[in-house]
Amino acid sequence: MKGIILAGGAGSRLYPLTLVASKQLQPVYDKPMVYYPLTTLIEGGVREFCLISTPHDLPRYRQLLGDGSRLGLSIEYREQAKPEGIAQAFLIADSFIGKDAVTLILGDNVFYGGDVFQKAFVDFRDGATIFGYHVHDPERYGVVAFDAEGRAVSIEEKPRQPKSSYAVPGLYLYDNEVVAISKALKPSARGELEITDVNLEYLRRGQLRVLRLSRGFAWLDAGTSTSLHEASAYVQTIERRTGVKIGCPEEAAFRRGFITASQLESLITTLPKCEYRAYLEEVVAEDRRLQTR
Ligand code: DAU
Repeated sequence: MKGIILAGGAGSRLYPLTLVASKQLQPVYDKPMVYYPLTTLIEGGVREFCLISTPHDLPRYRQLLGDGSRLGLSIEYREQAKPEGIAQAFLIADSFIGKDAVTLILGDNVFYGGDVFQKAFVDFRDGATIFGYHVHDPERYGVVAFDAEGRAVSIEEKPRQPKSSYAVPGLYLYDNEVVAISKALKPSARGELEITDVNLEYLRRGQLRVLRLSRGFAWLDAGTSTSLHEASAYVQTIERRTGVKIGCPEEAAFRRGFITASQLESLITTLPKCEYRAYLEEVVAEDRRLQTR
């Protein structure tokens, strides 16, 4: 499955932070925000990426992530001239997707906990798989409602009166039909090609699976100064308590077998002496200890 990371948008809610660096490059505790969705997709087994951002910000992403080869990935970059909707990503990335299935993740969505995503990637065959997450403010999101048997019956984008408390997070898995569906979309009242309309089309076709994320799973929103700060505090708390990093693409690529221990070691030698480097050194050392047991 191919992967799209959508990291454009105006970032106006984080002004003046976003005057010189886009939202998804801002730090969430100890790493750039985009590391988190990148890691989520690597953990799902995705190796071929297309990162979409504004013409202004794209050079920064190239600088940060390069062509992906040091992580055993390939990363292409495409411009979104204007933020004309999340579903526009499938038109921009049409030739990248080719005939494959594709997953899209929003560059400002931070997930943590469990293996529900990994399982969803393994189980994916066709149609669409999206997720539902219980929130206290569903009116801010796409909202999915279920019938008594737990089947999804409606999805609405930012409804005034939500029919459920389940928001749809910014991670979506689609078969190749998503390209044709997106090409047929009309812009919404706010002038965007809505991802909710893509999901509604799969729902109409009887091909939408909605997996509910359990309690204890964390979906963090990093879209305002307050939620950005809270996301950082959350990551710091978990990392300090467990000694394990969240959103570390080097570690994820290593654990997925995209790079070997020796490749990770030579990557580490290119890093400055810092806490992040020390962490990766410990990842390799721990792996070597396990191998010699
Ligand atoms: O976060 C999940 C929610 O994301 C979903 O529940 C909603 O259904 C979905 O519409 C979306 O809602 P938002 O109001 O959060 O979307 P927003 O316009 O803030 O865009 C989300 C991210 O995608 C943001 O980091 C900017 C980026 N983006 C957005 C648009 C519309 C782009 O890169 N290009 C775009 O054209």
